[in-house]
Amino acid sequence: MTSSSTVPVVALNNGVEIPQVGLGVFQVPEDQTQQVVEAGLECGYRHIDTAAAYYNEAGVGAAIRASGLPREELFVTTKLRNADQGRDKARTAFERSREQLGLEVLDLYLIHWPMPGKDLYVETWEVFQELQAEGAVRAIGVSNFLPEHLNRLLADTDVVPAVNQIELHPTFQQPATVEATKSAGIAVEAYSPLGQGKDLNADAVSRAAGAHAVTPAQVVLRWQLQNGTIVIPKSTHRERLTANLDLFGFELTEAEMSAITALDSAERIGGNPAAMEWSQAR
Ligand code: A2P
Repeated sequence: MTSSSTVPVVALNNGVEIPQVGLGVFQVPEDQTQQVVEAGLECGYRHIDTAAAYYNEAGVGAAIRASGLPREELFVTTKLRNADQGRDKARTAFERSREQLGLEVLDLYLIHWPMPGKDLYVETWEVFQELQAEGAVRAIGVSNFLPEHLNRLLADTDVVPAVNQIELHPTFQQPATVEATKSAGIAVEAYSPLGQGKDLNADAVSRAAGAHAVTPAQVVLRWQLQNGTIVIPKSTHRERLTANLDLFGFELTEAEMSAITALDSAERIGGNPAAMEWSQAR
């Protein structure tokens, strides 16, 4: 079994360290979340990524308590639901997430979507800055922010986000957003790092998997890691959870990296941040 100590950490722009591989629980049903996260913690994951809008934070919290792991060994991210942007709602929503997770201090809190049509993300970010200054959260960041949204935050607020979590996988790499994120000193975190499974059959991926005697998922995750990206693959299967952490016994060649990078297309799986105005309330 891969031990957590083999997963490298990435130092964020405020010095906080995040394990480069985490377990994502998007689309994990509420009633399975505790079990999946417990399995993940047993396999060696020490970084868990959830969101208020996944409606499974309580399961993450229950798994953490059941694991008995020391709090300081874990890195827990959650995200503000779209309907909760704005000064008053954001603070209440943060308290609710903290309560659901059963954690006094969160490691990373993200604005889930910019929702430019609502024009509340600057005001929301001011609340995030306060939460960080109060010590309620160790690092603050954003998700799904395009260059124009990042530029607006950089111009109008004081704290540079630590992370931009975006859809990023071989067939959807959004190079302009990655470039804008990195050049502002913000860490790039990939959601749907495996393209929700759909990028695993590409020839360039299968060829590299054959050459290194690893699985296509390990190739795609290794490509992400060699690009410096933080990844949060999701799986509900224990053997895949283990395999998705076992990424440090091989290295892709430059040619293999380039062949996978050449798979880029304009086809996203998730929503378009420029247009997304979904409340995430249910
Ligand atoms: P499952 O949960 O049944 O294991 P992403 O992280 O890009 O969203 O991808 C998650 C999808 O990829 C899920 O459907 C998951 O299925 C599948 N998946 C995760 N790990 C692997 C793996 N090692 N091999 C094949 N499919 C995987």
